[in-house]
Amino acid sequence: MRRKIVAGNWKMNNTLEEGIELAGQINDLVENTEINDVDVVIGTPFIHLTEVNKVVGEKIGVAAQNCADEKSGAYTGEISASMIKSTGSKYVILGHSERRTYYGETNEILVKKVNLTLENGLAPIFCIGEVLEEREAEKHFDVVKSQIAEGLFHLSAEEFGKVVLAYEPVWAIGTGVTASSDQAQEMHAFIRKTLVEQYGEEVANNTSILYGGSCKPSNAKELFENADVDGGLIGGASLKAEDFMGIITAF
Ligand code: G3P
Repeated sequence: MRRKIVAGNWKMNNTLEEGIELAGQINDLVENTEINDVDVVIGTPFIHLTEVNKVVGEKIGVAAQNCADEKSGAYTGEISASMIKSTGSKYVILGHSERRTYYGETNEILVKKVNLTLENGLAPIFCIGEVLEEREAEKHFDVVKSQIAEGLFHLSAEEFGKVVLAYEPVWAIGTGVTASSDQAQEMHAFIRKTLVEQYGEEVANNTSILYGGSCKPSNAKELFENADVDGGLIGGASLKAEDFMGIITAF
């Protein structure tokens, strides 16, 4: 049975103190609210990982937002998957469009990061999604399929079983323009069909495919009612505990 997941992505926000405070607020709400069998994840900057893991309970997993594409060594400023593992975190967000766009993250780099994440017992939350021009040119299905295939299809069925996918149409990220429920379901169904073709029905049906891109408490329910939308990867709305909780309880 695939998991329902609501994951926050704080991006580059919150000082250490602000992050500990926010994580505590989210944890209090999660511990004191009836949650309908949803896995809650908080994706923080590196500086928060250790402390946030101390603050949250069993119901919340912690994610890093990136990891190095090397195991260890002379790579000044980088943070390795094994270091992330040592903080108690369980996930790594990889391939976010902001990293692909601003930091030149290629599929070749992402393959190395996916492998190191899995080798360290962490679950990749692997982001895919088209830009507006690609959708307007009706290339969005080809783009998304290529991102998945080039970043992940080297994995065995067993390895892929640990991957969470996040479809984030770039034109919906941070814009307030959310994909419609139909648009989200159409792409998620296409992604699932692509997984069936590569790995078969069982793996495809057990893969959680999250939607990201201006998901808010006001639109989450409609998005999550879709058969192939298994939750959300949440940016702005994850920075306020009440808003993030409003999305978690939308299931
Ligand atoms: O990774 C999630 C993020 O890209 C979505 O951002 O602010 O549109 O929810 P936002």
